[in-house]
Amino acid sequence: PPTTARQPRAGGVRAAGRAAIAAPHLRTDRWWLAPAATAAGLLAFVVYSTWRAFANTDYYAAPYVSPFYSPCLAENCAPMKAGPNWEIFGGWWGISPAIIILIFPLGFRLTCYYYRKAYYRGFWASPPACAVAEPHRKYTGETRFPLILQNVHRYFFYAALPVAGILTYDTVLAFRDEHYDWGHMGLGTLVFVVNITLIWAYTLSCHSCRHIVGGRLKHFSRHPVRYRMWQFVGRLNARHMLLAWTSLASVALADLYVWLVASGVFEDPRFF
Ligand code: FES
Repeated sequence: PPTTARQPRAGGVRAAGRAAIAAPHLRTDRWWLAPAATAAGLLAFVVYSTWRAFANTDYYAAPYVSPFYSPCLAENCAPMKAGPNWEIFGGWWGISPAIIILIFPLGFRLTCYYYRKAYYRGFWASPPACAVAEPHRKYTGETRFPLILQNVHRYFFYAALPVAGILTYDTVLAFRDEHYDWGHMGLGTLVFVVNITLIWAYTLSCHSCRHIVGGRLKHFSRHPVRYRMWQFVGRLNARHMLLAWTSLASVALADLYVWLVASGVFEDPRFF
């Protein structure tokens, strides 16, 4: 029978009243492939981004600044001419300045409805897949500490907006050359444009954004502008998983690009 949040859940799918099926599951396809691939993809990003965030080096190659380090808010930032380099945190900040700012996009993604599904399945097997019973004996969902904190997602959405705005500013600055003259474009500019497009698409496809834009209304007919916005966000929202992955890949690639240019592996090819 369908359960509600108030029913006792001790025993999970083995609880009294649930269908008595002895087999762990009845699926015959390779259901484990999706959670395994998800776990591998997320793990790869976590390892790469952690290493880069703590590396504290090679994150600026004029005119590009790595999205992991922008805005740079400590005194120990690399000098970035006319870049988003505001020394709000003084000289006492000793470790990588990326840590200050990464908390916001990290919190946004960690509490994202899609990523929650992804890592609950991929890392906790809770549940591993549709119609596959989870191994845990108890299920409390997100009703208790610490998972009840996932509700802060909407606030991380608000924090994600200025971060996306700053990355947009960085992308505008990428239309300069290495001497900071305007009206130029290199391969890095293209990488940044693709990245910021995906970042915005992912941010605006957020379920919280959809609710903020179109929720709590009784009559769409009386709010035609919000209705239009809600339709737009809804179309993006239908692709939220795709945008979550593509923007995750693009932000890592943008950082990788800056790192390779800054460390002298190759020079940024200039188009004009
Ligand atoms: Fe995924 Fe908000 S639900 S970013």
